[in-house]
Amino acid sequence: RRLLKVKIAIVGTGYVGLVSAVCFAEKGSRVICVDNNEEKIKQLNKGIMPIYENDLEDMLNKNKCSKRLEFTTDLEYAVQKSDIIIIAVGTPMLPNGHADLSQVESVTENIAKFMNEYKIIVNKSTVPVGTQKKVIKLIRDNQINEYDFDVVSNPEFLREGTAIYDTMHGDRIVIGTDNERARKIMTKLYANFNQSIILTSPENAEMIKYAANAFLATKISFINEIANICEIVGADVQEIAKIIGMDKRISPEFLSAGIGFGGACFPKDTKALIKFTEGFGYDFKIVKSVIEVNENQKTKPIEKLTNALSCVKGRTIGILGLAFKPNTDDTRESPAITIINDIQKLGGKIKAYDPIVKDIDKIKFDNIEYVDTAYDAVKDVDAVILVTEWDEFKQLDLKKVIKLMKGNIFIDGRNIYKYTKMFKLGYEYYCIGKKD
Ligand code: UGA
Repeated sequence: RRLLKVKIAIVGTGYVGLVSAVCFAEKGSRVICVDNNEEKIKQLNKGIMPIYENDLEDMLNKNKCSKRLEFTTDLEYAVQKSDIIIIAVGTPMLPNGHADLSQVESVTENIAKFMNEYKIIVNKSTVPVGTQKKVIKLIRDNQINEYDFDVVSNPEFLREGTAIYDTMHGDRIVIGTDNERARKIMTKLYANFNQSIILTSPENAEMIKYAANAFLATKISFINEIANICEIVGADVQEIAKIIGMDKRISPEFLSAGIGFGGACFPKDTKALIKFTEGFGYDFKIVKSVIEVNENQKTKPIEKLTNALSCVKGRTIGILGLAFKPNTDDTRESPAITIINDIQKLGGKIKAYDPIVKDIDKIKFDNIEYVDTAYDAVKDVDAVILVTEWDEFKQLDLKKVIKLMKGNIFIDGRNIYKYTKMFKLGYEYYCIGKKD
């Protein structure tokens, strides 16, 4: 493998930072990962992963052994030893819905102070349009010596659970810069990723990320509304999605109706988009509705539960899945949170199981019984709600499940079973947007 000469520092070892670091190292770059969380760096140096992600551990340890990847808390060292510094810190949502840029700002100020020669500073964090210009100003204001630099916007499109695959085989790499020198170096950095490299302006790159996430979230809320109508008129949303998706302009991807989107990205980015456009007086009506529909969709299982069970008080409900989607241990904004809270408010008890979410503290639920298998979660319960479509649940012995349950109500929030089969087995089966 041809080793690239550019050395990279990646600031922030969250999802984006860590996955990008491992992929750049795999492609031959030398990468220094920096984080101010000492414990995290200590663990990473021992080869212990802070997140669950397919292939991450093996690839990380392999590249650590071959000295292409190192972990440190020393930002000065990382900046001075690198040609490209990638900012991949969090931009969480502030209580007012705006993206919190304080981590991006403080990291930028420190990078500026530690600069010892020309550097390219790359922003991978999702940030409002105009942040690239702000970063340039911050660096100028904080530099001790006036070294030359460029700031590039390079958003990522990876999904949790398939993050390594998405980074290695993405549909496009977006590089936002107006500067020729930076354009050349960035193109070289990504040359052996074998993906379309799109060179555009920093503003376009920043907007592309928000537009992509808002559009995908819109597809989900749109199909969820169609599902709600299907339930009233007796149509089948899966059939509708498949057939409208045959039109290439629509595509069948991202048209699975369910109990709403969650995770660290869509909820946060749609709200931030509304907020920063509000800042210049724009009322982003579609995206506002997307969020409203999504909030409502998370309550669908409770609506079905309260219709089926005359009283939830004192009953036990089995929850299958806590993660916001399969193949991740992430529970941020998971529909499970709304569902569990609502059941508890109605006086119901919870038994929950997730194949990977083991650290129950992570989702901060009081008074839930957390069990070790899916069968334990359905044992003696009055009703089951399937929240996450893990493969493990698709393989469940449904005859055994109904025998273990006290009641027979099964609410399938992700449409993974078939009504006729469930009916034959004796379930009172409810799903989303089709016959129930
Ligand atoms: C999302 C985007 O898909 C990535 O391209 C983007 O890079 C990322 O956000 C980000 O901004 O960092 P992610 O949040 O990991 O990725 O997860 P998705 O696979 O997109 O799923 C998001 C939510 O939508 C999940 O709760 C999922 O259950 C839901 N969903 C997805 C549906 O309800 N229906 C669908 O058809 C697809």
